[in-house]
Amino acid sequence: RIPLLIDTDPGVDDALALLMAFNDPRHEVVGLSIAAGNVGLAHTVANALKLCEVAGVDVPVFAGCAEPLLHPARDAAYVHGRDGFGDIGYPPATRAAENEHAALAILRLSHEHAGKLLLVALGPLSNIALALKLDPTLPSRVARLVVMGGAVTAHGNITPAAEFNIAFDPEAAHIVLSAFPHFDLADWEATIAHGLLHDEVLGWLAADSERARFYEAISRKTREWSADRRGDHWHSADGLAMAYALQPEGAVEVESRPVAVELEGRHTRGATIVDWLRQDGAPDNARILLKYDQARFERLVRAALAAV
Ligand code: BDR
Ligand code: CA
Repeated sequence: RIPLLIDTDPGVDDALALLMAFNDPRHEVVGLSIAAGNVGLAHTVANALKLCEVAGVDVPVFAGCAEPLLHPARDAAYVHGRDGFGDIGYPPATRAAENEHAALAILRLSHEHAGKLLLVALGPLSNIALALKLDPTLPSRVARLVVMGGAVTAHGNITPAAEFNIAFDPEAAHIVLSAFPHFDLADWEATIAHGLLHDEVLGWLAADSERARFYEAISRKTREWSADRRGDHWHSADGLAMAYALQPEGAVEVESRPVAVELEGRHTRGATIVDWLRQDGAPDNARILLKYDQARFERLVRAALAAV
């Protein structure tokens, strides 16, 4: 099985992505490295541990960066709830996080699974950036990096030009995206192009499984929030990125281009700048997901929720 390390800030859509990963027979989740992002680190760690408990998996959870590398950022509690999991007041998990820092765990696991590791980043890139500063040879041991982040034609979701994961810690994103010669990018615009019909999601959430029951509860507020604003479809950024990670053969349309992160700019800090016309002569570093097989994506989500 392919060793899979997930760097994440759970987060309701992170939770769906984790359930998809736990349910995949071709991958073995070897660790969850956790950053602050959607909400503060204490909550994202507690949420990761709780989700593992609900899913009945014993994956080690590593707490990482509690804030962006340089500048403070605002969280996304207005989407995910103050605790990041819809404020349902769940009893905390019995297990605690490991003592090892997430950045160190990323490096150790990259050695243990050198050349085979699939690294999937579903949150701000602070932990992976820190790991790279400790050891710049990290990319040589990672078989594939998949990043949920960016807005490739600048239709941002947190500022007009920028997507949340990149805008939360632009310096970290710059460090990571410029260090990996190749990575797969599932951006916010791909998210919007692969909506899930609320009515269908409700059916999947009614599955007779602990995972579906828990997910129905933690996602309720954000589904209502999104139904008010975005109509019939619900969007799972991290779920789509995980589908691309687990089953890349489901990608129908992918474009390779140079992608860089804007660190300044009054309107554009945190934007992902894609050189669509290859005008600067930079190498293509990103394989940008434009279209994924929607039926396959939906099958993966549905199966992840139904799993017992
Ligand atoms: C990304 O931001 C977070 O709120 C989500 O979990 C996802 O990773 C989407 O912009
Ligand atoms: Ca996330």
